[in-house]
Amino acid sequence: MIEFILNDKKVQTEAKSGMSLLHFIREEQGLKGTKAGCKEGDCGACTVLSGSLHKDNKLHYVSLTSCLTPLANAHGKHIVTVEGINLTNKLNIAQQSMHNNFATQCGYCTPGFVISLTGLSLREKPVTYTDSLNALSGNICRCTGYKSIEKAAKEVTEKLQKKNHHDSLNWLVKNKFIPDYFTDIPARLREIKNEQSFTEGVLVSGGTDLYVKHADALLDQEIQKASDFVPDKILFSNTKCKIGAGVNVTNLMENCEFARYFPYVKSHLKLVSSEPIRNMASIGGNFVNASPIGDMSIFFLALNSSLYIQSSIGAIREILLKDFFLDYKKMDLQDHEFIQHISFEIPDQNTYFNFEKVSKRTHLDIASVNTALNIKLNDNIIKETHIAVGGVAAIPKYLNQTNTYLKGKKLTVSTIIAAQDIMQKEISPISDVRGTETYKRLLARQLFYAHFLKLFPNLFKLKDLVA
Ligand SMILES: Cc1cc2nc3c(=O)[nH]c(=O)nc-3n(C[C@H](O)[C@H](O)[C@H](O)COP(=O)(O)OP(=O)(O)OC[C@H]3O[C@@H](n4cnc5c(N)ncnc54)[C@H](O)[C@@H]3O)c2cc1C
Ligand code: FES
Ligand code: FES
Repeated sequence: MIEFILNDKKVQTEAKSGMSLLHFIREEQGLKGTKAGCKEGDCGACTVLSGSLHKDNKLHYVSLTSCLTPLANAHGKHIVTVEGINLTNKLNIAQQSMHNNFATQCGYCTPGFVISLTGLSLREKPVTYTDSLNALSGNICRCTGYKSIEKAAKEVTEKLQKKNHHDSLNWLVKNKFIPDYFTDIPARLREIKNEQSFTEGVLVSGGTDLYVKHADALLDQEIQKASDFVPDKILFSNTKCKIGAGVNVTNLMENCEFARYFPYVKSHLKLVSSEPIRNMASIGGNFVNASPIGDMSIFFLALNSSLYIQSSIGAIREILLKDFFLDYKKMDLQDHEFIQHISFEIPDQNTYFNFEKVSKRTHLDIASVNTALNIKLNDNIIKETHIAVGGVAAIPKYLNQTNTYLKGKKLTVSTIIAAQDIMQKEISPISDVRGTETYKRLLARQLFYAHFLKLFPNLFKLKDLVA
């Protein structure tokens, strides 16, 4: 049985665990405020909040696209739809701010926007205007225009500046951001037993890949819920970092220790989809999606990561991520296996890392070309590099020959130009909706140079590289 709190109501249901949360909310519960727009994670009309109790006993809410969320992932959570943020006879602050700023016309997108803004108010940390715009990065409006919605976001952000973070829920209730039943949610969530496990059918982690194509087929199916057995912790030892395959993109972006070694992780991973998708999209799912432009695949290929793959009898084998991708959407993974975690060497002070991505839109779009570079130096001599490029081959491409060429060379303009020539021979982009072959080759070149221009601005100038 799946058990959770939907707004103010406890739900216990025998519905299939593979049913999308959107379907359950609208069709089984009759809550029609949550809208079905694209059903592909792109429009945000179906956005809901998912609250869970953390070890510190605090409630932590994230936004999700309910069209791509399996019902199983709601188990033990507080799911909040637009009906669940209404105050008695009054608009809440997010709704009122949209109203004050004329931020709605046909209204189809509006539930998604007010849910995202309410989610912003539930954050544990102080929020900025930029945070509020990021919170709306998964919401699209077709008729109002974004300026008035941005003004509403600004109004909400300004009101949140006075928030008492030591007594967050009570402050939010008192100041009309959320209804008062929220204060009982922690105790009510504690009553739900977490012993339920979902171990039948297809394995689903965040659902952001599988549910785009298979939501209808999964409606009457049971699923295996990845979070029941795939680890979701980020651990550091002296020399290694070990990341559970269930870790999602937001977890990575917000991990303080990870940011110590990858100071630009937030700006790099902000280029991955939108906030609700990042809250759901797991690293394991990104690898197994096996898209040639998978951002996580490119990021972790450049870290020369190892995968730990577990079989149904518990045996674990280790392979390098660069050997995992065999051909287009084919990988070294058997039906009875799953990725348990990945591991890589923590960069030392002589190691430099950069990630670049160009897509048609800056946010909520997959790459035309993406690339990551990891380079280790000894004085000015290259000890080793690991460079990966996406969108230029049938698989996320690890540049074996380019890396081999660079090893032991002096880091100079002529070395980088020669390496770029080798990269062009290693890649084989095709013309498709994301650009022609010529365009992708040019992008790959520019992004390859961008790594060195960003990491070593004293050594490289654009005019020397592209002269
Ligand atoms: C609107 C939208 C925007 C997107 N933008 C981007 C983007 O900018 N960049 C990008 O790279 N991707 C993007 N994606 C693709 C997707 O979000 C990612 O690939 C994501 O990481 C998939 O993870 P998931 O947990 O949601 O996978 P799921 O859908 O849960 O699973 C995907 C596949 O992986 C398998 N799987 C999951 N976990 C494991 C495991 N531990 N071991 C073995 N198999 C496993 C599942 O069985 C399934 O076959 C986007 C998707 C959407 C809908
Ligand atoms: S319906 Fe468009 S994101 Fe879910
Ligand atoms: S108000 Fe019509 S889509 Fe936004």
